[in-house]
Amino acid sequence: MHYRQAFSEDSVTLSKIHEECFPRYWDSSAFTNFFAIENTRAVLAEKRVGPQVTPVAMMVYRVVHESSDIITLAVCHPWRRQGIANDMMARAIAHAKALGAKSMFLDVEDGNQPALGLYESLGFRQINRRKDYYKQKDGSFTDALVMTCELA
Ligand SMILES: CC(C)(COP(=O)(O)OP(=O)(O)OC[C@H]1O[C@@H](n2cnc3c(N)ncnc32)[C@H](O)[C@@H]1OP(=O)(O)O)[C@@H](O)C(=O)NCCC(=O)NCCS
Repeated sequence: MHYRQAFSEDSVTLSKIHEECFPRYWDSSAFTNFFAIENTRAVLAEKRVGPQVTPVAMMVYRVVHESSDIITLAVCHPWRRQGIANDMMARAIAHAKALGAKSMFLDVEDGNQPALGLYESLGFRQINRRKDYYKQKDGSFTDALVMTCELA
């Protein structure tokens, strides 16, 4: 797997991965807007076989002084459970620490067991709950859990 920093010209690719992985996806302009925000970085995971490049996963995170946030993270279905999200998180954590971050925060939908399993395995713990934070396609709402991890 090849991991590289993504840029504004990758916004369509980032959006396609997001669409494949989330019921309510962010369009490419949402990603383009992220690139305009200082201290925000996007990463693409690609499978490269000869000249063929297949986008596999992406993440967006932000580091501001001593605090860092995972904004989004997604791995396309055929590539799940192969350690890719774990690798991307490890890279983001290492980068955030190198920039001086002391803690990392993220929001995750209540009941998203794969993501909760991932974050708990990395040492994140729940510190808050945002009631009815996510609107579902059917109009119902689900809570967001706010999680944090100290970056020792
Ligand atoms: C959550 C997600 C990013 C995990 O990606 P992944 O590459 O499959 O995760 P990894 O292979 O790196 O898994 C690392 C650890 O996370 C946990 N985990 C991952 N998938 C899991 C699942 N389906 N059930 C329970 N735990 C899971 C496990 O602890 C796993 O370690 P293990 O395989 O040694 O048991 C992926 O399922 C995804 O893109 N889901 C849809 C989008 C999403 O929910 N993103 C997170 C938003 S907060």
